[in-house]
Amino acid sequence: MPDSSAVQQRILALTERLHQLNHQYYQLDISEVPDQEFDQMLAELHQLETDYPDLALPNSPTRRVGGTITKQFPTAVHRYPMLSLGNTYSEDDLREFDERVQRGLEGAPYSYVCELKIDGVAMSLRYEHGQLVQGVTRGDGTRGDVVTANVRTIRTLPLALRPGPDQPEDFEVRGEVFMPLPVFAELNAEREQNGEPLLANPRNAASGTLKLQNSAQVAARKLRFYAYSLLTPGRHFASHSAALEALSRYGLPVSDTWRRCANITEVLDFVHYWAKQRHEFPVATDGIVIKVDDLRQQDQLGYTAKSPRWAIAYKYPAEAARTRLNEVIYNVGRTGAVTPVALLTPVPLAGTVVKRATLHNANQIELLDLRLGDLVYVEKGGEIIPKITGVDLAARPADAVPIQYPTLCPACATPLVRPEGEAHFRCPNERGCPPQLKARLEHYVSRRALNIDGLGAETVGRFFDLGLVTTPADIYDLPARRAELVTLERLGEKSIDNLIAGIEASKQVPFPRVLFGLGIRYVGETVAQKLAAHYRTIDALMVASAEEMAAVPEVGGVIAVAAAHWFQQPENQALIERLRQAGVQLAVTGEAPVPASDRLAGLTFVISGVFESHSREELQQVIISNGGKITGSISKKLSYLVAGDNMGPAKREKALALKVPIISETELMALLPSSEDEPAVSEENVIAATGLGSQGELFS
Ligand code: IVH
Repeated sequence: MPDSSAVQQRILALTERLHQLNHQYYQLDISEVPDQEFDQMLAELHQLETDYPDLALPNSPTRRVGGTITKQFPTAVHRYPMLSLGNTYSEDDLREFDERVQRGLEGAPYSYVCELKIDGVAMSLRYEHGQLVQGVTRGDGTRGDVVTANVRTIRTLPLALRPGPDQPEDFEVRGEVFMPLPVFAELNAEREQNGEPLLANPRNAASGTLKLQNSAQVAARKLRFYAYSLLTPGRHFASHSAALEALSRYGLPVSDTWRRCANITEVLDFVHYWAKQRHEFPVATDGIVIKVDDLRQQDQLGYTAKSPRWAIAYKYPAEAARTRLNEVIYNVGRTGAVTPVALLTPVPLAGTVVKRATLHNANQIELLDLRLGDLVYVEKGGEIIPKITGVDLAARPADAVPIQYPTLCPACATPLVRPEGEAHFRCPNERGCPPQLKARLEHYVSRRALNIDGLGAETVGRFFDLGLVTTPADIYDLPARRAELVTLERLGEKSIDNLIAGIEASKQVPFPRVLFGLGIRYVGETVAQKLAAHYRTIDALMVASAEEMAAVPEVGGVIAVAAAHWFQQPENQALIERLRQAGVQLAVTGEAPVPASDRLAGLTFVISGVFESHSREELQQVIISNGGKITGSISKKLSYLVAGDNMGPAKREKALALKVPIISETELMALLPSSEDEPAVSEENVIAATGLGSQGELFS
């Protein structure tokens, strides 16, 4: 029998890898390994957890909603299949499309509607009696994932429609869910701050977001929706344009960029206009959709096996430019990750001049077989971050130089490491590598962390270069070194006063932001808040094991291992000691947000489905910290089934058959003491609200 520390190691390794693969799959839309391999790892982990229950981590990937990646959402069959459009890249093809339409309609007059082709995720929404009842992804066109709880978080999407005399009782709205470009840019900036990999484009960001299990997280991502068609069993409107107008009247968001076009010449004018103009539009678009307006004529033209004959998508050519690769430099980030950046001969592309492009990592350089001096193709990924997509091999100069990926850190010459399964090389010299130290200081003073007035990234960087500060704790020694600061160029008395006042004020910044500011790998704002809320003081956090931390909602095994490792380092312990001496907030003040009590002692709960305001882990935590127990299966002895959206019908039926009360997340919360330690509602009210009836004795 293997010793338990070997088992523990294996559990940690599997957990870490599975969390990473899940993250890649859901957030980045990358499948690094085949599903089968994923399932094998999951099965192995599950077996180890069964054999060694004491070593099982509470946030194990085996405990995710639905168990595996393929079972995250229930699926539904589309009433009307979700077809795709024929694509074209040339104006000649558009003219041919028009000729086919003309022939198909046998000379009858017709007109078109042109719309922007939004680059997001197709969504089918069902409205019954004016109420949003279901949201389903395209899936394979016949069957898609039911993501109702997630689409409900889209603020601009009405849950109830404005009534209108011509509103069908039961209809479907098709449209595109997307992430606006500014939201995407903000999300990536935040990920960069947290040392997380960037999302490639807004479409991946939108599809990854829709696949999140926690709809509260989805809500934070600010997705949007544009409707582009309305489907009813019979024909309800005479034309597509009338249906678009009706959708707007009902309160559904329809982009006002659509136009009626009398003929193909007007269609081409529309295409030309948006070729440039779309770069000013705050939503990623990749073309124009052209539809025959009259619905009777649409029926007359009909469908091929895959797509309608009455519509076509004109795709703008991916904006690419060819330019010379002159040099590759290597940036070292806050967490030591090394990112190669290509320096190019400046070239105009989609409205800006591109001089640099990201190469992501060493794999990318190998895949593209890049050489210095090559002519390369640059594209704007999701219209934002330029990337190198290919090499003009025919034009390769004889003296093109193969790129030697560095083996030593370009900043501090420490040998680089590449942790198993990671794409990036890393410089492990956390304590001494200048760009890492500097980036950590910049992070510490940044707006979302300690937000030190008068000490921006630039100033702190300058102080670092001058040897005035190396770690965040050194910042608090600056006021005593006023005389030295005065001698610095470009730093007047007034700026110094401002700086000192800012440093003083930062001592009042709440603990979660200080914890975030420490720059622990993977500990972003949300995780910092969760850890702070759970442990309340840095001292409690410093002695917590990785296993314990992994039990905190939203803190997975990977994060917990990184955080525990960070707190074990003597120099980090010394840093915290100095911050404490300086008077920085290292504990939460005020009430604990998750009330702890024995209110649920003796009660057992099953949690099922997806919830609006809490993740399942949070609900579990709430139940456990109030003395309740979680179980997996429904039996007569079960106290409550806590039901969210998309709960399987079998569970509901079983609970009903065994007379197990089914309650919502709000009703669960109502069972708990409020923060003033009074019951949130009287017991009678709880019983009335939950319809528990004779189950009331559970409280006695
Ligand atoms: S109409 C029968 N209109 O482009 C097909 N599609 O293959 C009906 N899209 O993923 C689609 N903007 O989600 C239509 N204004 C628009 C669109 C649009 C984006 C997407 C659609 C689908 C793809 C078409």
